Amino acid sequence: MTRIAVYPGSFDPVTLGHEDIVRRSLALVDRVVVAVAANPSKEPLFSVDERVTLLSGVFADDEQIEVTSFDGLLADFARVRGAGVVIRGLRAVSDFEYESQMALMNRELYPELETVFLVPALHLTYLSSSLVREIARLNGDVGACVSPSVAAALDKKFGR
Ligand code: PNS
Repeated sequence: MTRIAVYPGSFDPVTLGHEDIVRRSLALVDRVVVAVAANPSKEPLFSVDERVTLLSGVFADDEQIEVTSFDGLLADFARVRGAGVVIRGLRAVSDFEYESQMALMNRELYPELETVFLVPALHLTYLSSSLVREIARLNGDVGACVSPSVAAALDKKFGR
């Protein structure tokens, strides 16, 4: 039986931390569906389509990784896709409160769904998409934070 995991998130934009978590998750499952959440309440820098395109470029070399988007509940998306596992990255204790709440609520909505938390490589622990956006907006170097294609997309977005 193929074990499928969903790795959901905003990915605005995908960072090296996200990439690290996806690759680590392949030690646990056969396929990972990286799923960009279309969240109308957030004002993103990149559109959902742009984020899917960036993620697809980053993971183009790996057939075990699929990139897509979803709207509605994650629990419903996971059920439809036959995924029994949700992957989430945990960087610091401060992430835990929100993440555990979400994991318990997703289990309430879909009892067969297990959330697995993975810790990124130490040197990527400080990364977040919001910091990357801010650094790029202020003309800083994001080369240590994102793949070159994502850095180029940030440059373009900020008119450079
Ligand atoms: O990268 P983020 O912004 O921390 O990801 C949050 C995300 C997209 C995983 C979460 O907001 C989500 O699952 N959204 C889909 C809607 C949903 O299922 N909400 C209830 C969660 S218990």
